[in-house]
Amino acid sequence: MTTTIPSDAFVFFGATGDLAYKKIFPALYMMIRRGVFALPIIGVGRSGWSVDELRARAEDSVRHSGEFDACIFAKLAGQLRYVDGDYADPSTFAKLRQELGTAIHPIHYLAIPPSMFATVVKGLKNSGSATDARVIVEKPFGRDLNSAQALDRTLHEVFAESAIFRIDHYLGKEAVQNLLYFRFANAFLEPIWNRHYIRNVQITMAEDFGVQGRGSFYEEVGAIRDVVQNHLLQVIALLAMDAPVGHTSDAMQAEKLRLFRAMRPVNLSDIVRGQFQGYRSEKGVAADSQVETFAALRLHIDTWRWADVPFYIRTGKCLPLSATEVMVTLKSPPLPIFDLKQGDIDNHFRFRLSPEVVIGAGALVKKKGDDMQGEPIELIARNHVNGERSPYERLLGDAIRGDTSLFTQDDCVEAAWRVVDPILVAGPAVLPYDAGTWGPEAAKGLLAADERWHDPELEKAPPC
Ligand code: BG6
Repeated sequence: MTTTIPSDAFVFFGATGDLAYKKIFPALYMMIRRGVFALPIIGVGRSGWSVDELRARAEDSVRHSGEFDACIFAKLAGQLRYVDGDYADPSTFAKLRQELGTAIHPIHYLAIPPSMFATVVKGLKNSGSATDARVIVEKPFGRDLNSAQALDRTLHEVFAESAIFRIDHYLGKEAVQNLLYFRFANAFLEPIWNRHYIRNVQITMAEDFGVQGRGSFYEEVGAIRDVVQNHLLQVIALLAMDAPVGHTSDAMQAEKLRLFRAMRPVNLSDIVRGQFQGYRSEKGVAADSQVETFAALRLHIDTWRWADVPFYIRTGKCLPLSATEVMVTLKSPPLPIFDLKQGDIDNHFRFRLSPEVVIGAGALVKKKGDDMQGEPIELIARNHVNGERSPYERLLGDAIRGDTSLFTQDDCVEAAWRVVDPILVAGPAVLPYDAGTWGPEAAKGLLAADERWHDPELEKAPPC
């Protein structure tokens, strides 16, 4: 379909599921509240529910999100319809076609397990509901390179690539978009943003909670598939890519793809996998599970800009706190003039991506007094996240308008799988770690002798 025509009906499969409850209903509600969403909403599910039961669930979900205004919710409830049935049964799709009524450019959101994508896509096609339509696909996009390619083939049988929206909610985060903005809206960073000035780049995505009842889902994915292959490699792409030739979706995708293709597939000696003590007692988790709840990796990007600069990723459940932070450490000055030891020098850029949005530049300044002694300071720019649109709200709105800029294309997804594929096939055994720690000690072994992991801290409140 022509990419600029807005969709005229919002269909979502998996309407009775977890994602709908946690993210989709609250996002739709907020879009209605802002007055930017008036489409019919057609939920599709297999729970044997009535539309009233779905409305009750939607109400519960919106109340749970902390936002509720009866008048606004009444609009959502009025726009909501429901089709119940088996995804393999053509009559489910006949009912959907009927509910679509006069809509001719629907958007179908597949908030369902990937194993059902093929069946649903076929059902959409056979019922005529895929013509001039768009499709939104929830992550994970496959389990590895082969399955991602098979998934893409399935989608391409029915939808053009420009009509496929692969959602990675990290790309809808304000702080993640600011990485790109900060890098390319300013000229001062570019001259030093390379191997001549940057010593290493670290990204830590820490969560202080476990799998929160999602044990059976997590057993199928583990940290690498859940957040590394998608969220964290996307963050690296934004940090490391060259400037796009203009602010168009195609220009962005082209530069990202070049970067993904330059990432070296991870070597087995460049990964440490961990599992928190107690994971195996979670509901839905195998007693001898080898699924990682922690991963630390060393990545290499084979370009002239980044040759020999290590990119480190660390992520885990049950770590000491919840925060996602990028630390870009600069090299030391070439010759010591003052009495400085290697460890004293702390020149860095720090990008806090969550829960706050912070950009910090770390430097040394002279301490007051007669001696030429220094102390570290950080220049801070801080944005408040209150009132920010949720990533789902932003991304669903973009998809409905046909804007692909913040979605992931097939070749980037496949290139990202190529990077992690070797460790999915034959990753090292998981090492146990205690909840509330920074993971297995072995993660330190990935760093050079004079490097250390940067542990994010709880952000200090700004002075009044
Ligand atoms: C999801 C993962 O994609 O991202 C979760 O499945 C993870 O395991 C979540 O907790 C983190 O996202 P956010 O936006 O809450 O930091």
